[in-house]
Amino acid sequence: MSDHLKRRAAEAAAEAELKSGMRVGLGTGSTAKHFVDIVGERMRGGETFLCVPTSEATRRQAEGLGIPLTTLEAIGELDLTVDGADELDDALRLIKGGGAAHLREKMVAFASKRMIVIADQSKHVRMLGAFPLPVEVVPFAHPATARWIEAGFAQLGVAVTTRLRLAKDGDPLVTDNGNLIYDCLSAGFPEPEKAAGMLAAIPGVVEHGLFIGLCSAAYLASDQGVVVLAGRP
Ligand code: 5RP
Repeated sequence: MSDHLKRRAAEAAAEAELKSGMRVGLGTGSTAKHFVDIVGERMRGGETFLCVPTSEATRRQAEGLGIPLTTLEAIGELDLTVDGADELDDALRLIKGGGAAHLREKMVAFASKRMIVIADQSKHVRMLGAFPLPVEVVPFAHPATARWIEAGFAQLGVAVTTRLRLAKDGDPLVTDNGNLIYDCLSAGFPEPEKAAGMLAAIPGVVEHGLFIGLCSAAYLASDQGVVVLAGRP
C-alpha cells in the first residue's frame, strides 16, 4: 500500500471522527502512524487530546510529538481508537497483529466507545485468513501451545500450520508484553467466531489477532477516494 493512501485514510478518519477534548487510543503500524502524526498536528493547532498508545513504538512516536499520554488503567474508557488492520471483511471482522501489537490493541479497542480502522482497499477481503493469523503465546512450553492451536483448528476442519515469528536478527520475536507470536497459515477461516472461541480456550494463548464485534467503521482508501464501511455505532 502506498504511503499516500495510508495518509489519506488517516486524514478521512480524523476529519470525521476526531474531536478536540477526546480520549483517544493510538494504534500501531505504518497506517496508524499517520493518524498519530495528525493528532500531533491538530494539537499544534490548539486542540487537546489525551491518548493511550497501543505499543512501545507508538508511545515513542507520540512522546516525540508532545502528545499527552496516559494509561488504560488510569483512564478506564476511551472515546475513540484509530488503528490499522491486516485484513477486514464485510462484517468488519479483522485480522490484526502483523506488527505484534494485537494484545494491547485489542484491550484498547475494547475500552473504546468507537474503534475505527484505517487501511487501503486491498485489506478488504471476502474471507479472512490469506494473512497469517497472529497468536500471542506465553514462552512456557510454547511448542506445545502451537500443537494445540493446530489441533484445535483441525477439529474445526481448518488445516493450519503454525510458524514461530522471528525478529530481524533471527531470534524469536518477543512482544512488548514479553511473549512470543505464532502466525497461523491457512487457506482461510470460513467461521472466524468459532476460530476465536477455540483459540481463547487454549491454555498458553494470551490473545489472538481476530477482532470480532470491536470495529465501528473502516475508512478504506484507494486512488478513487475513501470508502467508509459502517458497523456498530
Ligand atoms: C499491528 C497491527 C497493524 O495495525 C497491522 O499490522 C497493519 O499495519 P500496517 O498499517 O503497517 O499495514 O495490527 O499489530
